[in-house]
Amino acid sequence: MDTAKQEAGYRAAEYVGDGMIIGIGTGSTVLYAMERIIHRMREENLSILGVPTSYQAAFRAAEMGIPLTSLDAHPSLDLAIDGADQVDPAKLMIKGRGAAHLREKCVADAANRFIVVADESKCVDELNGKIPVEVLPFACMPVIRRVAEHGGTAGIRTGSGKDGPVMSDNGNIIMDCQFERIDDPKSLERELAMIPGIVASGLFTQYADKTTVIVGKK
Ligand code: A5P
Repeated sequence: MDTAKQEAGYRAAEYVGDGMIIGIGTGSTVLYAMERIIHRMREENLSILGVPTSYQAAFRAAEMGIPLTSLDAHPSLDLAIDGADQVDPAKLMIKGRGAAHLREKCVADAANRFIVVADESKCVDELNGKIPVEVLPFACMPVIRRVAEHGGTAGIRTGSGKDGPVMSDNGNIIMDCQFERIDDPKSLERELAMIPGIVASGLFTQYADKTTVIVGKK
């Protein structure tokens, strides 16, 4: 698996050019892209600036020496490199396993090109995984009720290293929503976005046109 992630990450790094402002996604596959980007910065004297999508990305970039900037300073990015949890043949995706999908969506939206790195296990014929949603703590119970009205079951995510809910980098609560079937991912993304209290879902259905999916193989 690591070989596949490394292959995808390293290939993605080839899309980076001198002077680019790039979004840096979250997860283990993107870390390989960062590893390769820093190598290219040293070998080829590339100068880039990164916009991190999470504390994980920001801390790792700082350790590696990738200079960072923000969406405020650079509201338009040349490209973003990010991972995914499920990708279908139409390049629609579920993201958010790492609870970073809100900032990842902001960065993907700002990017002119979206490079998604994944190993083969992420490729599915139809999206069918749990859909992460980032929820304002004030509105947790109403969100659970409203998701149920749409046929889903929303459960508050708990993790290791802390009792209670997983809180995002933005101070919100993460829930995972199980739907029996996801017949129309685009409509479902819109419906979830309409529920007050949901800040962002992990459905990424708007960016297929500017997305390149790089699938690493073992
Ligand atoms: C983070 O919240 C997710 O959207 C990640 O991009 C995703 O989980 C990919 O992670 P891996 O590369 O570790 O599979």
